[in-house]
Amino acid sequence: MVTTNQNIETAEPTNIVIFGVTGDLSKRKLMPALVRMLCCGLVHTDSKIIGVVNNRTEEVWINLVREGMQEFSPEIIADESRWKKFLARLIMVPGDLGDDATYQRLAESLAEINGKKNAMFYCAIPPAWYGKVTGGLDKAGLADESEGYRRLVIEKPFGHNLESAKRLNKELQSVFKEDQIYRIDHYLGKESVQNLLVYRFANSIMEPLWNRNYVDHVQISTAETLGVEYRAKYYEKSGALRDMIQSHLMQMMTLVAMEPPVEFTADAVRDEKMKVLRAIRSIKPEEIKIHTVSAQYASGTVEGEEVKAYVSEEFVSPDSATETFSAVRFYIDNWRWQGVPFILWSGKRMKSKASEVMIRFRKPPFNLFDSHASAPAANALVFRLQPEGGVVLRLNAKKPGLTTDNEEMVMRAPYADDTGEVADAYEILMHDVLTGDGTLFSRADEVETSWEIVEPILDAWKNRVSVERYRAGTWDIPAMEELTKDCVGGWHIPTVRK
Ligand code: BG6
Repeated sequence: MVTTNQNIETAEPTNIVIFGVTGDLSKRKLMPALVRMLCCGLVHTDSKIIGVVNNRTEEVWINLVREGMQEFSPEIIADESRWKKFLARLIMVPGDLGDDATYQRLAESLAEINGKKNAMFYCAIPPAWYGKVTGGLDKAGLADESEGYRRLVIEKPFGHNLESAKRLNKELQSVFKEDQIYRIDHYLGKESVQNLLVYRFANSIMEPLWNRNYVDHVQISTAETLGVEYRAKYYEKSGALRDMIQSHLMQMMTLVAMEPPVEFTADAVRDEKMKVLRAIRSIKPEEIKIHTVSAQYASGTVEGEEVKAYVSEEFVSPDSATETFSAVRFYIDNWRWQGVPFILWSGKRMKSKASEVMIRFRKPPFNLFDSHASAPAANALVFRLQPEGGVVLRLNAKKPGLTTDNEEMVMRAPYADDTGEVADAYEILMHDVLTGDGTLFSRADEVETSWEIVEPILDAWKNRVSVERYRAGTWDIPAMEELTKDCVGGWHIPTVRK
């Protein structure tokens, strides 16, 4: 959570309108984040939270909010006065999202609220509804900024291929200007991801090393222990490549690889990210097998619990070939990165949960101490996103004693250990929306270009009838050893600290 003593831009009073306010995302992430933001001043105290609710009375809705809070922010419920203050901010607008009258009612409700008419429209709903909602807002005059700002927030997936992404962008842009649209990628709100930028551009010792002369390769990974949970209907059509690589991991790759922007503003940063995307070498159909890996979890044991195979999960077809693990080796054809593999991988039901960005440096050119010890390991700089955020630098050091044998020295810099100052990604990103900072959000061209890059892989995998399997709760994916065989250190499996 962000504390009040930090130097944070204050947001103007805003009407925070949530579509899908009774859904899972609102319950788990949005409401708890808003409560905390209100408490520490990230949301202006004159702001309202407006839930658009269908087929429920206000009483039923408030009870749902309360139940959600009990589960995800119990400290609020335990403190009656805080809960009452939060309750006082809530307004319900009844109606069906498919009915234009709902948006008229919303407009009337906003008009009744005193003060500025700023509004943030958060779409915590399936993407199939984005067009309907933006159309409704348009007809009710709610995209118009003459009385205050109007910002639209949408969640991924932003399309499921290039064509649908273009269609979606067109639809959104027919109502909102690009700078009114905030495409959330919650990974960019994680502290370690932002720290990556600070590490790169606030330290002069990084820049000379940050290129093909010193970097052997980069691995960007997310390993999850969870399976597909209750989301199989979506995941069956998505798979790990769309779900994680095309979005979160490629976004992180652009931040690692981009040139220093001329200033830290949304467009300057996004222009640099775009240059990286444009420099990514396209993978030819005949190279797909060499540069990618895909696999699906079979049954197994994860963290001591027996878990079923992906194909036995609810709503999954028994002969599904959807990948729950996916990896791609990209190359960026520019002066800085020519020849450096960027390996992006992500999997569900892995042995442990960990997300990392690892910069693996080249081996020392000559081993001076070879007569006494094994060769020194190549250095690595690891940005650990989760479970515990921080930065790890792996160096070689002398073993204590009368020897020049060396051993690996691991320098860890955790974030805000136990001080509670690590903000949740949704707090950071919603605050950015409220203050109009689009730096950590994807622009339309980035989304389209990243789909264009993965499209040949999607095409190659489209009609396949089978996929490799791995036992849940293991790292047993031999194809990853093959994919990383020319990389110093091979496949980097994140270590988990107990
Ligand atoms: C989501 C994906 O975007 O990110 C999920 O759709 C995935 O499948 C999740 O589980 C992972 O997020 P986090 O923050 O838990 O690593």
